[in-house]
Amino acid sequence: MNIVIFGANGPTGRLLTEQALAEGHSVTAVTRHPDRFLLQHAQLRVMRGDVFNLSEVESAVAGQDAVLSTLGVPFSKQPIHVYSQGIGHILQAMNRSGVRRLVCVSSSATEPHADPQGGFFFEKIVQPLIVNTIGKNLYADMRRMEKTVRDSEMDWTIVRPSGLFETESVTPYELAENHIKGRFTSRADLANCMLRQLSSDRYVQKIAAVATVAVQPSMLKLIMREAFQSKHK
Ligand SMILES: NC(=O)c1ccc[n+]([C@@H]2O[C@H](COP(=O)([O-])OP(=O)(O)OC[C@H]3O[C@@H](n4cnc5c(N)ncnc54)[C@H](OP(=O)(O)O)[C@@H]3O)[C@@H](O)[C@H]2O)c1
Repeated sequence: MNIVIFGANGPTGRLLTEQALAEGHSVTAVTRHPDRFLLQHAQLRVMRGDVFNLSEVESAVAGQDAVLSTLGVPFSKQPIHVYSQGIGHILQAMNRSGVRRLVCVSSSATEPHADPQGGFFFEKIVQPLIVNTIGKNLYADMRRMEKTVRDSEMDWTIVRPSGLFETESVTPYELAENHIKGRFTSRADLANCMLRQLSSDRYVQKIAAVATVAVQPSMLKLIMREAFQSKHK
């Protein structure tokens, strides 16, 4: 398939690009900084593009069979619009080019569920701090993105991971509709899950929650790395 990946130079996007190329897809990798995109492959086209720029998004989407988005920005005290405006432009471009399949990443934190086994520290301190304070603006924009996608008539799948971490390879992760028990998702698993959606109708016009179950990162390391760095990757 011809696929375009927005957010291709982020940590998940790079894994997704590698996995897609390894499976024989032709990939257009969109980044605002093509000079910093290190992957090279005969089936890879690296394209400069900012999702706030509709004509750049349209150029990237034209001629594709599917659009994947791992677009993301760090937490911020300022309002965030990149998810909602970015997906708005992507959907406009898909309409214009007749592309129907969209797989985009959101987060389990857009619709937090109580986890009775999560423990006091996670349930009462970590989760509220991340969802309602540090990540408030980011998750508000992700919810706008989700609504825009759900209101569209595309063959969309919203993939909701939980706290992202690294594993060396894809693990036997689990998927469920809307919500899954599990606080962590490996980026390799997230990338694989997104790619699998291209050959399956199971989650078309649905939300797929994805969790890594075989290994778990240290909670403290994850918080330090993902929540308190100025750029959360
Ligand atoms: N961190 C977590 O624990 C966690 C949990 C749940 C969900 N998520 C979500 O999972 C997704 C993947 O996360 P990640 O850590 O792999 O990636 P990420 O670092 O959040 O972002 C991926 C890429 O998005 C691109 N981007 C940002 N603004 C853009 C713009 N205006 N136009 C075009 N591209 C833009 C950036 O690439 P360039 O600078 O190269 O353009 C960035 O490298 C994100 O949506 C994230 O919010 C994260």
